[in-house]
Amino acid sequence: MQLLGFHVGEPSPAALYPAPDTPSRRRIEAMLSDAVAALRCPVCQGTFQLREGRQRTLACEAGHLFDAAKQGYFNLLTGKGTVFEADSADMVAARYRFLEAGHYSGLAQAVAQAAAGSLRRPDALVLDAGTGTGHYLQAVLGRSKVAGIGVDISKFALRRAARLNPQAANLVWDIWRPLPMADNTADVVTVVFAPRNPAEFARVLRPGGSLIVVTPRPGHLAEIAARTGMLGIEEGKEERLMDSMRDHFLSGASQSLDLPLTLSGPEVADLAHMGPAGHHLQRGQLAELTAVEGSVATSAKFRISEFTVS
Ligand SMILES: C[S@@+](CC[C@H](N)C(=O)[O-])C[C@H]1O[C@@H](n2cnc3c(N)ncnc32)[C@H](O)[C@@H]1O
Ligand SMILES: [Zn+2]
Repeated sequence: MQLLGFHVGEPSPAALYPAPDTPSRRRIEAMLSDAVAALRCPVCQGTFQLREGRQRTLACEAGHLFDAAKQGYFNLLTGKGTVFEADSADMVAARYRFLEAGHYSGLAQAVAQAAAGSLRRPDALVLDAGTGTGHYLQAVLGRSKVAGIGVDISKFALRRAARLNPQAANLVWDIWRPLPMADNTADVVTVVFAPRNPAEFARVLRPGGSLIVVTPRPGHLAEIAARTGMLGIEEGKEERLMDSMRDHFLSGASQSLDLPLTLSGPEVADLAHMGPAGHHLQRGQLAELTAVEGSVATSAKFRISEFTVS
């Protein structure tokens, strides 16, 4: 017996996240089918059909099959694994706790608002590149009830994302490879602190589609960086972002967003662990941060940059 592609013993997404606007099972399946229509088989570039049986499966015309993991995501990476060091289960758990506590919900709402303008068509589609735990895609899909695709190289992240966004196609994939999507299918691509592949984002976006990129600004979490050895944000990063987009995109609106944060020791430890520095942090350093007494005040400084396909 199976429930929404989740095996018996696994709580269903609706049971884990009983938000008032949790989509119904029928709606989840309809939206997932809409997302699947934009996917292409990474082996033969054929279109996929979604098979619902004992297991949920993506099946292409040529017979290449990709079964859903029990949490509901699909691993489309074939052949040898990538050499990239994906985020570990611990790093993903730290990010999940931090985002779930709502510290960055102001950013998620700002991204959802920026995306909403380009997601008005009823059959619109959003791709979240480097979706992580799925919190930003959740905010976008909560505001604009459209189909979604979330891509990440970490299966630990996708286990969370697939539960948070069961109506989206959540895919293990490497952003540096050609995306497993047809040309001109997405209305919006969001990239929140994740790698950018401008040529591929431009290929999958429809003409007039919007790319929304979130990056940290100088001074981002400066007080925490000083304690943890997290790398500061170098000057000139923004200019480099614009340069890297120039061949494929025109730059549009850009806004800065500052979120004041007051964090406990365990929250500081999660923040340090969840980012790129998390790969190098020693257990002892994390324990030290966790033991910090009282609270630490800092400010998250973001830039939300919008681009349109040129
Ligand atoms: C700093 S996290 C941001 C995650 C999420 N967007 C958020 O802000 O919470 C970067 C994410 O990019 C993913 N990532 C890194 N390199 C990738 C690649 N080559 N292809 C796909 N995902 C990648 C990581 O696994 C991680 O989930
Ligand atoms: Zn195929």
